[in-house]
Amino acid sequence: MKLLVYYFLIILTLNSCNKKNNHFAIVVHGGAGTILKDNMTNEMEKAYKQKLEEALNVGYSILKQNGKSVDAVEATIKILEDSELFNAGKGSVLSNNEEVEMDASIMTGDNLNAGAVSGIKKIKNPITLARKVMEESEHVFLSGSGAEDFAVSKGFKLIDNSNFITNNRLNSLKNIKKRESNTDNKFGTVGCVAIDKNGNITSGTSTGGMTNKKWNRIGDVPIIGAGTYANNQTCGISSTGWGEYFIRNVVAYDISAQIEYNKKSIKNAAKNTLKKVKELGGSGGVIGIDKNLNIIMDFNTEGMYRGYKKSNGDTAIEIYK
Ligand code: GLY
Repeated sequence: MKLLVYYFLIILTLNSCNKKNNHFAIVVHGGAGTILKDNMTNEMEKAYKQKLEEALNVGYSILKQNGKSVDAVEATIKILEDSELFNAGKGSVLSNNEEVEMDASIMTGDNLNAGAVSGIKKIKNPITLARKVMEESEHVFLSGSGAEDFAVSKGFKLIDNSNFITNNRLNSLKNIKKRESNTDNKFGTVGCVAIDKNGNITSGTSTGGMTNKKWNRIGDVPIIGAGTYANNQTCGISSTGWGEYFIRNVVAYDISAQIEYNKKSIKNAAKNTLKKVKELGGSGGVIGIDKNLNIIMDFNTEGMYRGYKKSNGDTAIEIYK
């Protein structure tokens, strides 16, 4: 009898150590801004939706096969970085001197570990470098040529900056220079948040920043707490917006903090934070997942490329308001 009790106690302990709920979810964005149906052809709309779906499906299948949310987020963002459609990686906008300068960050919610890079010019997938900083350096944030030296020390291949320059982005830069406006406030960025079967949340964000940027300008994306935040006890957030305002409002952490300290829902917390961004004069959006698998895709612009997929079959891909 005593042996039987011990046996059940051991089974109970093993079960609670291996607490899986088998539910998972993933959400992506491809940037927010002046995205109007009137300015979009059917072909363009189809191309954006297909790429978002492809990216979502890659992350989803990793989660479905018991993979970790950090792997799902990195793989999903890589698909978007490799596409010319979005302002990140291959599709990055150009700075004033006709170069690409990319920023990225990633954070895991089980251990609050984080990695970020900024001013990257020669790495194909900045999100992978951000993850390397998180997992294989004693630092959180590396920048410029130093970050690329670190990349080389970890076996990354450097590629020439000209590989990132597309005609589309070159034309945008020329148009902005003609208009003599300082910068372009279309907030292209890509991001992903995922929760895996173990309840671990990861968030990641990647961008080329702002067209015509000067002086090594850096936005919110590589700033942990502004562009990216993850905490298993609250939520994961990835931002897209006018970086200066997202930094000043510490957007991603502000949403998590409202859940932690004020017991707000992720939906209301995101609304409050985006309202504060707007009151200061900024705009943009956020995606997120809380620890109970509630998903948000909220924005105060005309549109945001976005989509999600949950293990219960619930899914959507949307662009406009
Ligand atoms: N949110 C992207 C940037 O401002 O650089």
